[in-house]
Amino acid sequence: MIVPVILSGGSGTRLWPLSRELFPKQLMPILGGEFSLLQSTVLRLRGIPETAPPIVVCNENHRFMVAAQLQAIGMPPSAIILEPVGRNTAPAAAVAAFEAMRDGSDPTLLILPADHMIRENTPFSSAVQMGERMTADGGMITFGIHPHGPETGYGYIKKSGAVDTGATPGDDEARAYHVSEFVEKPDHETACAYVASGGYLWNSGMFMFRASTYLRELERLAPEMISPCKKAFLEAKRDLDFLRLDAASFQSCPGDSIDYAVMEKTSKAVVIPLVGSGWSDVGSWPSLHEVLDKDEQGNVVIGDVMMEDVRNCYLHSSGRLIAAVGMENHVVVETKDAILVTSLDRGQDVKSIVKRLNSAK
Ligand code: GDD
Ligand code: MG
Repeated sequence: MIVPVILSGGSGTRLWPLSRELFPKQLMPILGGEFSLLQSTVLRLRGIPETAPPIVVCNENHRFMVAAQLQAIGMPPSAIILEPVGRNTAPAAAVAAFEAMRDGSDPTLLILPADHMIRENTPFSSAVQMGERMTADGGMITFGIHPHGPETGYGYIKKSGAVDTGATPGDDEARAYHVSEFVEKPDHETACAYVASGGYLWNSGMFMFRASTYLRELERLAPEMISPCKKAFLEAKRDLDFLRLDAASFQSCPGDSIDYAVMEKTSKAVVIPLVGSGWSDVGSWPSLHEVLDKDEQGNVVIGDVMMEDVRNCYLHSSGRLIAAVGMENHVVVETKDAILVTSLDRGQDVKSIVKRLNSAK
């Protein structure tokens, strides 16, 4: 049985001013259309055999929006685990593992960030089914993406020998590889060398492992996390579908990501290349500009916008008219109480503005 675990704890600071602490990007239909990123993530699970309703792990403040959005698509979760504070993804996955094992079973967890885009469902679904088979003997599966460039915001996976999956040689979609190295967020120079070598894949941030495998590896590699997570789970209060973690215990847990805490260090990692899925981490304005449909001048235009001689821009109005003249390679995002103007190549740095705003609060 596969139990999907949806990680919905981020606040998406690089998509400010649209994405806010109380209404983050994963709860918005940021790619257009009617569904939020969270809803699309859950809808993607339809049709994968032997898949239980998901467990969602999110911040307490988002609980009603999360519950309502999943209700609206007719795919209610089995539980919504509420974190009093974010402690990053390793503790979030640990409490979800305890919840998944509550009935005495040891299911395969499919860890999914709530904020990714995947254009094609079929390759994703086949990779997940193959991953499930490979978790039975203790494998920790990651899904790898062929890199498009030296992005420093991703984990890099060096694949080594193929794992015997019974697949036909040459059929990349049905292959899995041992991992000889996993490096989370390398510096620019290192990322350039990895991409040039051709031997590395990006880590997509989606994982599969048996719940017990994850907890054992976490205990071995980051022992300081297990007991606060266990206590936060055992002393949690159940309230309808919500599971409110014990605040003091969870707060005392050190924060770290699955990538740094476990995947960089474990010898059980296996990578399945996710080929032809159109995967993208829509984490910033430049990445949204890259993946969304553009007009003939390369502009992504949302809402009320007038343009003259504008090329390769992302222009997003939430209400008021944006008028732009003679502009190239820029982002303008208008909301009720804030307007962002940045060049496309500095779009990642919006998070430093958010940091300054937060420290001024
Ligand atoms: N519940 C919960 N609690 N979820 C969290 C928390 C938390 O404290 N922190 C982050 N998340 C969620 C985010 O909402 C997102 O959906 C997912 O976990 C991953 O967190 P990010 O903060 O977006 O990670 P990242 O993008 O820096 O890096 C990860 O993803 C990359 C691909 O997009 C890593 O796995 C990289 O190795 C990977 O390349
Ligand atoms: Mg991310």
